[in-house]
Amino acid sequence: KNTVIAIDGPAGSGKSTIAKIIANMLGYIYIDTGAMYRAITYKAVKMDVDPDDENGIVDIVRSSDIDFSDGKILLDGEDISEQIRMPVVNERVSKIASIKDVRLMMVDLQRKIAGKHNVVMDGRDIGTHVFPDAKYKFYVEADIVERAKRRHLEMVEKGYEIKLSSVIEDLSERDRQDRTREFAPLVKAEDAIAIDTTTKNIEQVTQDILHYIRR
Ligand code: C5P
Repeated sequence: KNTVIAIDGPAGSGKSTIAKIIANMLGYIYIDTGAMYRAITYKAVKMDVDPDDENGIVDIVRSSDIDFSDGKILLDGEDISEQIRMPVVNERVSKIASIKDVRLMMVDLQRKIAGKHNVVMDGRDIGTHVFPDAKYKFYVEADIVERAKRRHLEMVEKGYEIKLSSVIEDLSERDRQDRTREFAPLVKAEDAIAIDTTTKNIEQVTQDILHYIRR
């Protein structure tokens, strides 16, 4: 049976950076489940389908092919790893991710991937819903302003002109939607190990996690 390491938490907590490093060190596959919801959102933006048009969004999911290759996300065969970080995707993704039928299809794909490989999977509902029996579960958190500062720096490095205050707004609004949605909301799994990264660097957090895994 394959091993699943679930890493959940709010936006900008450092999950994906940490998950990638852990996957590399253990020789596991890293799966960014947020990228899957973002891919659908990006396609909806391109096709001009409103996030509130649930049937339209579900149709997009049904007719889309999402795949990962070499750390890139492929949508219908095209690498869209850069496009899914656009501000318009940030704004719309949580609405789209709140649609139950969208989630059911994404979760199906996530379980299929983990059926073939050992995985480190990051997201919002991996330890609670996708793999409630995951061997290892972590819940990574940090103070909202710290998270926004990190995300702001990333966006600026990518060439986006954006204010810190609007990143704070984006993260808070997504967290709110992710925590209050009806189906599989963002919440710490009872048996997940909580890690606060506010005052820790990536190196320290990675060491903490590896310590638990190797115990
Ligand atoms: O992780 P990231 O911030 O890229 O995720 C983007 C959005 O996708 C989240 O704000 C959330 O709405 C949604 N998401 C989700 N469940 C997951 C991963 C992401 O609902 N497992």
